[in-house]
Amino acid sequence: MIITIGSLKGGVGKSTATVNAAAELTRLGYKTIVVDADPIGTTANWIGDREKQSPDHAAIIGIQKKGNLRSTLQELDTNYDVVLVDVGGYDSQEMRTAATSSDLLVVPMKPSPVDLDTLPQFVDLLGAFRDFNPELLVRGLFTQAPTHSMSKKLDDAKDILGDYPELPLFDTTMYQRSAYMDVMPLGRGVVEWNDSKAKAETQVLVQEMMSLA
Ligand SMILES: Nc1ncnc2c1ncn2[C@@H]1O[C@H](COP(=O)(O)OP(=O)(O)OP(=O)(O)O)[C@@H](O)[C@H]1O
Ligand SMILES: [Mg+2]
Repeated sequence: MIITIGSLKGGVGKSTATVNAAAELTRLGYKTIVVDADPIGTTANWIGDREKQSPDHAAIIGIQKKGNLRSTLQELDTNYDVVLVDVGGYDSQEMRTAATSSDLLVVPMKPSPVDLDTLPQFVDLLGAFRDFNPELLVRGLFTQAPTHSMSKKLDDAKDILGDYPELPLFDTTMYQRSAYMDVMPLGRGVVEWNDSKAKAETQVLVQEMMSLA
């Protein structure tokens, strides 16, 4: 299964979702590889940090790849249970070739109107991806959602998404939690950490991803 994590926005939590999914998939015993197709190299750095800072944790394999990803992803798909692809937060050859080769495209978004202003453009792009890959499944994922119970941001953002049936949401939301930041320099996922809420939401997210396979 090839899963691309992509968006037209930077800083929405793509790399965070990618590495946390990788840690959980590995914990569950899926043979997983992470393809870092963002020149910034966040996920590649995380893999390096894992080797250095968390050598007692199961190794996770990663590669960096630029340009057209299609043949690389197709080959990896025959050797791994899950191929996770992290791309940069902009329209790129990497995102287009990954999405048109994928089974599932995960679209992280922050739940705020300013962060959702690229939705019309993204939905157009989805149409183009589907021209090449009619089987592509797509799910939106709200990330960094406020945890305080009075906040209406998540509900308001879900209302906005109601106007975009092309982009259905995961049931799971990733909330704003310091655990996601704390584990990153250790090369770990929140499923390998002490925040039970972050761990639970990541596990449900991965269950949802795999149930789409
Ligand atoms: N659920 C969360 N809770 C708290 N902090 C988060 C969460 N998700 C992401 N962050 C933080 O937000 C910042 C951006 O996250 P991340 O690097 O995953 O985004 P990105 O979409 O991959 O960005 P880019 O487009 O630059 O690649 C990081 O500092 C990360 O630690
Ligand atoms: Mg990133």
